[in-house]
Amino acid sequence: MPCPFSQSFDPLDLRDPFPLLAAARRQQPIFHSPAIDYWVITRHADIKAILRDHETYTAANTISPLLPFSDAVRQLLAAGGYNPQPVLSNNVPPEHTRIRTLVNRLFTPRRMKSFTPAIRAIAQRGVERLRGKAAFDIVAELTYEYPAHVLFHVLGVPAADVPQVKAWAGNRIKLYYGMPSADEQLALTGNLLPFWQYVVALVAEKARAPQDDLTSDLIRMRAGDDAVISLNEIASCMITLLVAGHETTTAQINNALLHLLRQRALWERLCAAPAGIPQALEEMMRYDPSVCAWRRLAARDSVIGGVTLPAGANLLLMLNSANRDEAVFPEPDTILPERGKLKEQLAFGYGIHYCVGAPLARLEMTLLLETLARELPGLRLAPGQALEYTRNISFRGPSALRLCV
Ligand code: HEM
Repeated sequence: MPCPFSQSFDPLDLRDPFPLLAAARRQQPIFHSPAIDYWVITRHADIKAILRDHETYTAANTISPLLPFSDAVRQLLAAGGYNPQPVLSNNVPPEHTRIRTLVNRLFTPRRMKSFTPAIRAIAQRGVERLRGKAAFDIVAELTYEYPAHVLFHVLGVPAADVPQVKAWAGNRIKLYYGMPSADEQLALTGNLLPFWQYVVALVAEKARAPQDDLTSDLIRMRAGDDAVISLNEIASCMITLLVAGHETTTAQINNALLHLLRQRALWERLCAAPAGIPQALEEMMRYDPSVCAWRRLAARDSVIGGVTLPAGANLLLMLNSANRDEAVFPEPDTILPERGKLKEQLAFGYGIHYCVGAPLARLEMTLLLETLARELPGLRLAPGQALEYTRNISFRGPSALRLCV
């Protein structure tokens, strides 16, 4: 019998993926998507098993362009000296282990906690800008830039560069996770070069004059020894962090605000008792994770969920579907912050590549929601808005969110 989902599943259409994924979990939990030539995995147990077995399923394809680069693009990148190496997301052990061990030491919950006063001040400044406005798009006014300001502060990147880096990072999402035409691919590549050159110059400057920030800490850890980590690998970590560390969080805050304000009683409960915010955020990440799908590459033939996956198969792990799997989360389409098993939600991944920025993301999201709940408890969704989502396979969050007070 032909698969009912192979043709109807559009992996780039993120407007409302949940009904099709629920049907797939019931009828055909693993299916092939010819649109991108990926195997789509929808059940929690299968996704967790894949993430756990990093030898059979490597992360080598996680930042590969869906459409391979054309010769023109390759030539442009080579001529511009574009040379990021696999360091974290798309790296494999033992090299991944070497670099991840160093980066783990930067993002400890203790070190993140030390940034609390600075992050709280960034949140307060952002929310102050909304004061006196009766209606606004909170993405444009606050959440688009807030995580970048936080990240730049901890990494020691000048705040004045936020708009430029945000624009470069947005280009990378379209290039690697979307399906641009050949001309668009070439135009978007043109923007990769200045981004890379910017990061290389930043690392060189920190090496010359280290400061009190995480980039400088990484440079101190190498103590001039390339076998520990090279300067090119540090630049590669930086470009990864400067993409992974804010688009994700922007979209997650937008998803959380959307659902909290749709469930006004829950929002009002949090305004009255903000201690419940971290737990509510965890449930929002389960319900609508901003990294809705992530990739793996099968290194050898294997069987998962009764389906044979050949060596070389590309896999699209639907984290948003795993998080609504009724086998783990009863009543998955209902928001219940007090539900058990929230530790099983996969919004930050699982296993050796588990999001290194999770402690920072949790802290900055909590501090922003606390500030909004305290300063603007009257927030409401503006009625009648149509939400828009950028076409890509991995990053889901509304491009605009109109609110009123
Ligand atoms: C709510 C916000 C965020 C979400 C939903 C998110 C989600 C994810 C996911 C799903 C992965 C892949 C895990 C896997 O392959 O098993 C990941 C990896 C990663 N994330 Fe995040 N992330 C967020 C925020 C951040 C922040 C703030 C940073 C940096 C400060 C960051 C840096 C990274 C890095 C470097 C990796 C690769 C880790 C590795 O391969 O070892 N992320 N994240």
